[in-house]
Amino acid sequence: MNSWKCGNCGYTFEAEQPPNECPSCKQACEFLNNTCYMCISGVDATVLEAGAIQKESELEAYDALVFGSPTYHGDMMQQMKTFLFMAEKAALKGKTGGAFGAFGWSGEAPDRIYDTMEHIFKMKMVDQPLRLKSSRVQGGIQAAQDYGKAVAEKLNA
Ligand SMILES: Cc1cc2nc3c(=O)[nH]c(=O)nc-3n(C[C@H](O)[C@H](O)[C@H](O)COP(=O)(O)O)c2cc1C
Repeated sequence: MNSWKCGNCGYTFEAEQPPNECPSCKQACEFLNNTCYMCISGVDATVLEAGAIQKESELEAYDALVFGSPTYHGDMMQQMKTFLFMAEKAALKGKTGGAFGAFGWSGEAPDRIYDTMEHIFKMKMVDQPLRLKSSRVQGGIQAAQDYGKAVAEKLNA
């Protein structure tokens, strides 16, 4: 079961799919998928798989977006490429952005995602992408939390 938050009145409820109208304010709203929710530096954050975003307008409900992919054969995963083509159609200009990815030795994916968000989407990016050299190396979770805080600071700046 997914948790959804109404983009109009903030009402939160559980349902497999978002309804056509909010059960509380009765408006036809955008609903934020709130299933994996956390709070970073006072900023509400949601973690989603790229495939959970059905249409580009869902991205516009967020003030900041951080996209990521591991690097395989010198490239990001196909799902992230497809996702970025969808995201290109959304109005993301000026929104805060970041990019991340685990890698083994070369780590091209986070850099390419970051560059696309900066140059094509015209987003306001944090200083650099987060490159995690293998998830098994200690300190990765701390680095990811610190990156989340940097995104929150950029958003509040
Ligand atoms: C078939 C294969 C190809 C890979 N190609 C690259 C690569 O071109 N560059 C790189 O930095 N890492 C590469 N990796 C390493 C992966 O990025 C790494 O295993 C992945 O980020 C997952 O991290 P984890 O193993 O710590 O979970 C490759 C791994 C596999 C299995």
